[in-house]
This record gives sequence, structure tokens and C-alpha cells, in this order.
Amino acid sequence: MKALQLIKYGEIKDSLAFNEISKPPVQSKDVLIEVKAAAINPIDKSIIAGNLQGLLPIPIPSSMAYDVSGIVLETGDEVSNFEIGDLVYSRVPQEQMGTLAEYVSVNSAAVSKKPGNISFAEAASIPLAGLTALQSLENAGIKENDKVLIHAGSGGVGSFAIQYAKTKGAYVYTTTSTSNVQWVKKLGADRVIDYKTEDYKSIVKGADIVFDTLGQNYTAEAFEVIKKGGKVVSVVGPLDEESAKMFGMNDYKLPAELARLSADHEALYKFIFMHPNGSHLEEIKSLIEDEKIKPIIDTIYPFIKSIDALVHLASGRAKGKIVIQIN
Ligand SMILES: NC(=O)c1ccc[n+]([C@@H]2O[C@H](COP(=O)([O-])OP(=O)(O)OC[C@H]3O[C@@H](n4cnc5c(N)ncnc54)[C@H](OP(=O)(O)O)[C@@H]3O)[C@@H](O)[C@H]2O)c1
Repeated sequence: MKALQLIKYGEIKDSLAFNEISKPPVQSKDVLIEVKAAAINPIDKSIIAGNLQGLLPIPIPSSMAYDVSGIVLETGDEVSNFEIGDLVYSRVPQEQMGTLAEYVSVNSAAVSKKPGNISFAEAASIPLAGLTALQSLENAGIKENDKVLIHAGSGGVGSFAIQYAKTKGAYVYTTTSTSNVQWVKKLGADRVIDYKTEDYKSIVKGADIVFDTLGQNYTAEAFEVIKKGGKVVSVVGPLDEESAKMFGMNDYKLPAELARLSADHEALYKFIFMHPNGSHLEEIKSLIEDEKIKPIIDTIYPFIKSIDALVHLASGRAKGKIVIQIN
């Protein structure tokens, strides 16, 4: 089968190649998926650049990407919840990475039937970003009437998070640039803050939750707008001690400034590293079928243009998700 593989670390244009490789093996808990569409995420560009060699070591060559939608072609001996011919979607586990390929084997615990009312391309756009938003906001204990600040509302994660937070009855603030303000409003955000012309810190006061999808100065600044007893959840900022343990860093300490801010403001800080989860994808399937959440796609590229798609992603300006049509 054909697969887009990482052949060395470095620039996107120099580091990838379309290789002819054998179909992945199907273990007892796996389903073999004929890939219809895949989606790419910022983590792919970090892997290509070699920035995650310590946290997520992978062999070279490795097939790329995590998001998939497609058709079940084979099931392992212990798989009882899927049948050949099922239409599915998944964020595949780390060790099964490689959805920019004609086939991928996936542990069935990470798979769900795809929402019935959307295309394969739309379904592929959902898993990694959707699971990140759901798991982050649920970790923060989101509930009705919470005031939630979601940074980068026009991004893959942010555009899903706004819609998910609205299903929970939260009041949603979000940040984006001028040209995205109108369409982000249509996702349901109550107050869209144009970061080119407005200072979100003078608008958001006493938030129950800040969802930090930007990192850098935004992580510490979250404590300026959080209420006492609130929670800052970050998917980009420093690891916390619990998440560091997941990566085997047992002696890790939260950076002193964050520990001080958290104590001074009596607000918790939590780093989230999303995890594959078929049951969470089932929940998302229902929300999509009930038309409470819709997929947001920037561009669909054909498989042969995957490298251009990754360059587009790396610009950091995508409006929603970038999808690759495989078949
Ligand atoms: N820890 C985890 O498990 C996990 C999981 C998923 C993602 N992540 C991380 O989360 C981040 C977001 O991911 P993503 O997929 O949403 O990325 P993305 O889709 O590439 O984000 C692009 C969006 O970010 C917006 N943006 C950039 N700078 C901004 C700013 N200063 N203020 C407001 N919006 C800004 C851009 O809007 P404008 O063009 O309007 O600026 C653009 O629409 C990435 O760093 C990713 O690595 C982590």
C-alpha cells in the first residue's frame, strides 16, 4: 500500500516521502480500516521537526498522522463491537500512527462508528481535535452557566471546543483575529474577542475555566482572568506533575511561576495530553447526529498533495481542520 512516511527529521518539504509498504498487521483487538480520509494536526509538524523525540519516540521511517475515517475491512479475533463494512472514525493510538496511508490497523477501543450525517472527510476532521476539547473541558468540570474562555476559537481545537461548551450551557468567550470574527460567532460563542483590536484581559473577568490552546505568555496570563476556585486547562503550556509522570518524568516539578500563580489565585492548573477513546467518539457522534456540533473544514487536499497540506497547517492560520482525501 502507499503511505506518506517520515524519512528524517527536519523541514516538512525535505522529510517526507510516499513509500510502498506492506499493509499493517491486524492484532486480536484491532480492526483494519480502508482509509477514506485522514486529517492532520499541529502535533504532526512537531514530530516532523523532531521536537517530540524525547516524549514520543518513533522509528524512522514512520507513517504519519492520527485521524482517520474509513471502512472496516477485517476484524481481529477478539473484536466483537465492529463488523466488516462498518463506517468508522478514530484518533489512532500512538503505536499505530499512520493514517496518511491506504490502510491502517487500529485497536478497536479507539474506534467508533462514524456519525451517519456527515461525509468521510468531515468525520476524519473530528477525532483528535474533538477529543482534545471534550477531555479538556470535562477535566475542568464544565457545567451550565460557567464562564469559559477558549483561546483560538478559529483553530481545529477551538472551533470544536466552542460548540462543545455551548452544549453544556456555558457562556463562551473566545479569541480570534478580525477576519474570523463573524464565522466564529456563528459557532455559538457569546463574546468573540478580536485579538487584533481588543485586549481579552479587559473583557474576561472571573472565568470559571480558561482553555489555553496558545501557550507562551497566554498560560500565565490565564490567572489574570480566572476566578478563585477556577481551573486553567492547557494543551500547550508546561506539563503538570501528574502529566509529567505519564511521560516517565517522576521528579518533574511545575515551573515555579505557575505554581505561585496557581497558589496566589487559588486556581488549579492542569496540562491535558489527549488520549484515544472510542467511547468519547461515540458521545461526539451523538452530538453531531443531533446537529449540536458540526465539523469545520478549512481545506480538503488530495492524498498526493499531503505535503502541501502539512505546509498549510504549519502556517498556524487554518480555519478549522485540514483534511486529506485518501480514497
Ligand atoms: N495536548 C494535547 O493533547 C493537544 C491536542 C491537540 C492540540 N494541541 C495543541 O493545541 C494547539 C491548537 O491546536 P489546533 O489544532 O487548534 O491548531 P490550529 O488549528 O493550527 O490553530 C490555528 C488557529 O490558531 C489561531 N491563532 C493563532 N494565534 C492566535 C492568537 N494569538 N489568538 C487567537 N487565535 C490565534 C489562528 O487564528 P488567526 O489566524 O485568527 O490568528 C488559527 O485559526 C496547538 O499548539 C496543538 O499542538 C495539543
